[in-house]
Amino acid sequence: MQDLCLGFDVGTQGTKAIVVAPASGQIVARAAAPHRLVAGLPPGHLEQQPAGWLDAVVACAHDVARQIDVQRLAGLGVSGQQHGAVLLDDGGQVVRPAKLWCDTATVAEARELSQRLSRRVQTGFTASKLLWCARHEPERWARVRRVLLPHDYVNWWLTGVATMEAGDASGTGFFDPGTRSFDAAAMAAIDARLPALLPPLLPAGALAGRLTAAAAARLGLPAGLPVSTGGGDNMMSAIGSGATSAGVVVVSLGTSGTIFARTESPVVDPDGLIAAFCSSDGAYLPLLCVMNLTGVTEEVKALTGLDHAALTAAAGAVRPGADGLLWLPFLVGERVPDLPEATGTLLGVRPGCLRPGHLYRAALEGTSLNLNLGLDRLRGLGLLVDEVRLTGGAAQNGLWRQVLADTFGVPVAVLEETESAALGAALQASWAVRRAAGEPDLRCEQVAAPAVRLGARTQPQPRLQPAYAALRIRFAAALERLHPGAAPA
Ligand code: XUL
Repeated sequence: MQDLCLGFDVGTQGTKAIVVAPASGQIVARAAAPHRLVAGLPPGHLEQQPAGWLDAVVACAHDVARQIDVQRLAGLGVSGQQHGAVLLDDGGQVVRPAKLWCDTATVAEARELSQRLSRRVQTGFTASKLLWCARHEPERWARVRRVLLPHDYVNWWLTGVATMEAGDASGTGFFDPGTRSFDAAAMAAIDARLPALLPPLLPAGALAGRLTAAAAARLGLPAGLPVSTGGGDNMMSAIGSGATSAGVVVVSLGTSGTIFARTESPVVDPDGLIAAFCSSDGAYLPLLCVMNLTGVTEEVKALTGLDHAALTAAAGAVRPGADGLLWLPFLVGERVPDLPEATGTLLGVRPGCLRPGHLYRAALEGTSLNLNLGLDRLRGLGLLVDEVRLTGGAAQNGLWRQVLADTFGVPVAVLEETESAALGAALQASWAVRRAAGEPDLRCEQVAAPAVRLGARTQPQPRLQPAYAALRIRFAAALERLHPGAAPA
């Protein structure tokens, strides 16, 4: 009986795998393997070797194969970090390491494209990475015959077929979400050759292909296993967190922080701060992304040598507002506000503040306040937010959940399965396999429903609302003073 589906989430820190029994929603196996960054690059350059992602996928597959009978698998799906540029030559070899979503070395190219296209092209998006390569490494660029996104590269390795789908493609910066097709003017602004370097786009709910004998042998999985289109990690997380129907707002706490909701028509921010993405189940996914989230708490961990549990306990003993310590957490630059070259700022340092608990509390508050500016902007674009769902690794931290509920002023409900991107990938596979097997009208939300469960709900504390209102004002004022004009209006 083929009653299980496998999902891989090829993220920034590592790859996670989940096996779900879609009928019951039960998770029956899981695995994880780390990725490494290319070492020794200048600040702002963040790159990984795509081969490292494949090694991590292989390691996870072997781990999963020890936990289940792989003959029970009906299909697999892949979620991937968005925006990365995988450049392949004639022989399918990687031409250079992939520049990642959090690479800010391409700021000049992003500005140039923004000017030429009269719309904001975010530094993190794929478009500026391609122009950067064409400008800075013309010999390498001349050898490029295929441009893929990270999850499309993994799909290509699994199936031997190069494809893209609208969800991840909408994060390239050369895609028109309204028509769900590539944007000819944006491609022309990068290189006239670009259209020929891109693979065909698949519709949502389709299969990308089947596992080749070679990939199956390396993975220890059955050859011929169906592989769904997959999608960007936020799109797949939307499937695994129930943002497959309107009205569900999800906040994802990972290396990046994102806020998104599924809509039936595109939501376009005139200033381009909220990304007008497509979902990977046939609709739209307006999304806020901040680049500084768990990296900020990781800095405090590295500084103090304490683990997150000890730091959370210490921060819990510090009053909201951290006795005036305020952290503008732009350690690696920032996407929203649009400050790719910014660095972080600690304000209000008094005696006693440079302690683990104060710093950790300031990290939780600073990152949450920054997310809140984006949430306000989403509200301004018409999104109703009366509760948010939390997912991603850091959603396990009860104090962070409370700080978010207090900062946002709405209840925060944590998902039972916080690896929602890997779960979403497995669920999308189940959806695509069932559609291909004779249920063409099946909706993704119907398949996802049994597996998406809410856990504890954290309410904002009414007695602290005045203090948090003051913090929100102080954060916005500090941002305006240090980076005039950058705050999302
Ligand atoms: C979204 C973004 C990040 C990455 C993380 O636009 O850049 O959330 O997808 O992998």
